[in-house]
Amino acid sequence: MDNFTFYAPTYFVFGKDTEKEAGHYVKRFGGTKVLLHYGGGSVIRTGLLERVKASLEKEGITYAELGGVKPNPRSGLVYEGIELCKKEKIDFILAVGGGSTIDSSKAIAAGAVYDGDFWEYYQGKLVEQALPVGTILTISAAGSEGSPDSVITCEDGMYKRGATGEGLRPRFSILNPALTQTLPPYQTACGITDIMAHLYERYMTNTQDVEVTDRMIEALMMTMIHEGPKVIADPDDYQARANIMWAGMMAHNNSCGVGRTQDWTSHDVEHELSALYDCAHGAGLAVVMPAVMTYNMGHNVMRFAQAASRVWGCQMDFAHPEETAKAGIQAFRNFLSSIGMPKNFEELGAREEDIEKLAHAACWGDVRKGNLGGFVKLNEEDVANIYRL
Ligand code: NZQ
Ligand code: ZN
Repeated sequence: MDNFTFYAPTYFVFGKDTEKEAGHYVKRFGGTKVLLHYGGGSVIRTGLLERVKASLEKEGITYAELGGVKPNPRSGLVYEGIELCKKEKIDFILAVGGGSTIDSSKAIAAGAVYDGDFWEYYQGKLVEQALPVGTILTISAAGSEGSPDSVITCEDGMYKRGATGEGLRPRFSILNPALTQTLPPYQTACGITDIMAHLYERYMTNTQDVEVTDRMIEALMMTMIHEGPKVIADPDDYQARANIMWAGMMAHNNSCGVGRTQDWTSHDVEHELSALYDCAHGAGLAVVMPAVMTYNMGHNVMRFAQAASRVWGCQMDFAHPEETAKAGIQAFRNFLSSIGMPKNFEELGAREEDIEKLAHAACWGDVRKGNLGGFVKLNEEDVANIYRL
C-alpha cells in the first residue's frame, strides 16, 4: 500500500424526510444568503424544491434561485451563477439535484471567490478556495455529494474537463433515498453503471498488497449487483435504493481508493462521448468500460481474473486465467444489458467518423498524448482503438 492522506469532512444526513432539515444544516454551516441551484425541473415537479424553500424560510434564511442545469453541465450557466453570487452577496450554495447540478454548484462556488476565469480550474489549477456548498441528492450516480471533484462541459468546443480540490467537498449532503424513486428506469440504470465504474476505476491498480481496499471495492460491487436489479424491477423499493445511495457515495469519496494507483481511462474516454453527443455519462460508460477492459486485460490478467472470481462468481481457471478474466468481462456486459444499458456506439448515438476527433479530445489535444490512464499508459491511437472496439 502507498502512503496517503485522507480527509473527507462532509457531514452526511441520511434517510426519509431529511430534506426538511436543509435550513438547519445551512445555518449550522454558516449560510445566511443562499443560491438555490437546480436542474431542468424534476425538483419542481416532485415538490422537493418547495419543501427545501420552506425549510430555509423556517430558519430565516434568504435565497436567490438559479435553475436550468443541463445533464453534462455547461460553462455558460456557471458564468451566470458566478455573476449572480457576486451581485446578491451569496455566502452558501445549495445544490438540489444530481451530479450535474452539484458540479455546476461547485464550479460557481469556486468562481465566485476567484478574480480570474473559473475555467482555469478545469485546466489543472487546484481549487483551494470556494464558497461552501451543501447538496440535496436526487440520483445515486456521480458521487459528487462526497467528492472533491466537478466536471463541466466547455461550450466553446464542447469538451469536458474536471476540476478538483478540497475546497470543493460539500460541507453537508442530505441523502434521502426516497427522492430517487421518481427517476426514470433508464436514469436509475445509468447511475448504477456510473457507480460500478467508480469502483472498477479504483480496482484497476498497479499497487501491490491493497487487500483492504480491494475487499471494500468488491463488497460495494457485489452490493450493486445484488441491489441494482431490485430497483429496476421495483422503483419503489426504498431499502434497495438506500443501499445503492450509500454505496454510490462510498464508491467515490475515495475511502476505497486510498493508498493505490487508480485508472480513470474509462472516464476520460467516456467524457468526450457525453460532451459531443450529450448522452448520459452512465450510458457512455456502459459502452466504453467493457472495451477498455478487453483492451487492457493483458496488462495484468490476474487482476481481471480476481474480479471475475470474487465479484462475478466465475470459476477460477489457474491454467488459463485469461479465460476467467474474459468470463468476468462478459458477466459485466450481461449485467449492463440486463439493466437496459446500451452496448455499442450505434445504440449510444455515436458516429464512427468522429473517432479521431474523440481520441484527440480525450488526450487533451497534445497535452497528455501517450499518458492517458493510470493502469496502462495509452496514446491517441490506443484510445481510437478502444472507441473502435
Ligand atoms: O435536470 P432535472 O430535471 O433535475 O433531471 C435530471 C436529469 O435529466 C434527472 N433527475 C435527477 N434526479 C431525478 C431526476 N428525474 C426524476 N427524479 C429524480 N429524482 O436525471 C437526469 C440526469 O441528472 P444528472 O445530474 O445529469 O445525473 P448524474 O448524477 O449522473 O450526473 C452526471 C454528471 O456528473 C458527472 C458526469 O460527467 C455528468 O456530467 N460526474 C461527476 C463526478 C464528480 N463530480 O465527482 C464524477 C463522475 O464520474 C461524473 O463524471
Ligand atoms: Zn462517473
